[in-house]
Amino acid sequence: MTIIKPHFILTPQALLENQAIAFDATIKKIADFESLHVSFPGAEIIELEKNSLIIPGLINTHIHLEFSANKTTLEYGSFMPWLHSVIKNRDDLMLTCKEECMSRAVDLMLHSGTTSFGAISSHGLDLDVAQKAAQNVVFFNELIGSQAVMADTLYGDFLERLDNAKSIKRKGFQAGIAIHSPYSVHPILIKRALRVAKNEKLPLSAHFMESPAEKEWCQNNSGEFVPFFKEFLKQEYAVNSSDEFLELFKGYPTLMTHVTQASKEQLQKLHDDKHTVVHCPVSNRLLGNGALDIDMLEDAKLDWLIATDGLSSNYTLNLFEEMKIALFMHHGQDLLSFAKKLFDSVTCKAAEALKLNTGSIEEEKNADMLVLNLGKTPNEQLVLHLILHQYKIQSVYINGTKAL
Ligand code: BEZ
Ligand code: FE2
Repeated sequence: MTIIKPHFILTPQALLENQAIAFDATIKKIADFESLHVSFPGAEIIELEKNSLIIPGLINTHIHLEFSANKTTLEYGSFMPWLHSVIKNRDDLMLTCKEECMSRAVDLMLHSGTTSFGAISSHGLDLDVAQKAAQNVVFFNELIGSQAVMADTLYGDFLERLDNAKSIKRKGFQAGIAIHSPYSVHPILIKRALRVAKNEKLPLSAHFMESPAEKEWCQNNSGEFVPFFKEFLKQEYAVNSSDEFLELFKGYPTLMTHVTQASKEQLQKLHDDKHTVVHCPVSNRLLGNGALDIDMLEDAKLDWLIATDGLSSNYTLNLFEEMKIALFMHHGQDLLSFAKKLFDSVTCKAAEALKLNTGSIEEEKNADMLVLNLGKTPNEQLVLHLILHQYKIQSVYINGTKAL
């Protein structure tokens, strides 16, 4: 047992002053130091300095570790040129991103306060790194393939990767399933994978309505995807319309990523079917996919989270940076209440969506905590300042173990 005594603690109810936290793998009790000392007499004691603050560790629900080698290789500005550049450079990027390169990405997340992440894995090359990571990991094995003739082979490969991930028994690691997108996965494959997810209660992730090109292709079989599918895959029609895709997911609550091009009706359906939107503002900007309409999401009472996406469409995996970008991108939102929503989206809301027992400093939650020093007494605009100033993270605890 450890008792940590910071100056301030950010809890869901209030900013506590001069209280302490007794924890092992989970938070056992939050109270004044003297009473904790009596309740847990043998505990190790960590006393922090003036203006120190404990906040929950952050949760990045959508990253792609396997693409971490990209810095200047991929073409930014518009979705189709970017996708072509991914296809052209994929093998090189994967070959140059070995264990060290992916570990650096995991470290970048740890140093910027991410204590849990959802890794979308295309090939399983990131499995060892994710297993060894200090963080809690949901390892989403991705299914892709729109050609019926390839279905059995691709599904076999997917199941093998999923089995490898399921065989990992380490605290904080769990396997999940990612369905790439409406345009790239045959409905037969989607149905098979969703059945597995339901039977084994595995978390689900998908990309949905990311680009104008996807919207045109999946709704009208037109637009920039026409030559792409004709040339590479000999297809004239989308394998799923976007509505058919959503219908397949009815009854399977999923983290639906991007959603920038979804209609009002689709947002309502996402809400009615209990999905959560994952918003990656930097990625959307770099790939020319527009800015998510937060008001439309809120009108539909749809839950949304902030995530970074991978280094294939971002320059960092730092959630504080991503929140700051979102704060400025969505300039019509009320500053303070939006800052609070952003912070909740990478803590308690993200934990809820991934069904992780973390995301807030509360008794019985896992002890995933960040120690910062504000240098000054916090005021009622604390959450805004956490986003603006990116205070240095002095230490990180994950499931009660000091990871930094
Ligand atoms: C496919 O495998 O069918 C696919 C992959 C990427 C983009 C589109 C389609
Ligand atoms: Fe993604």
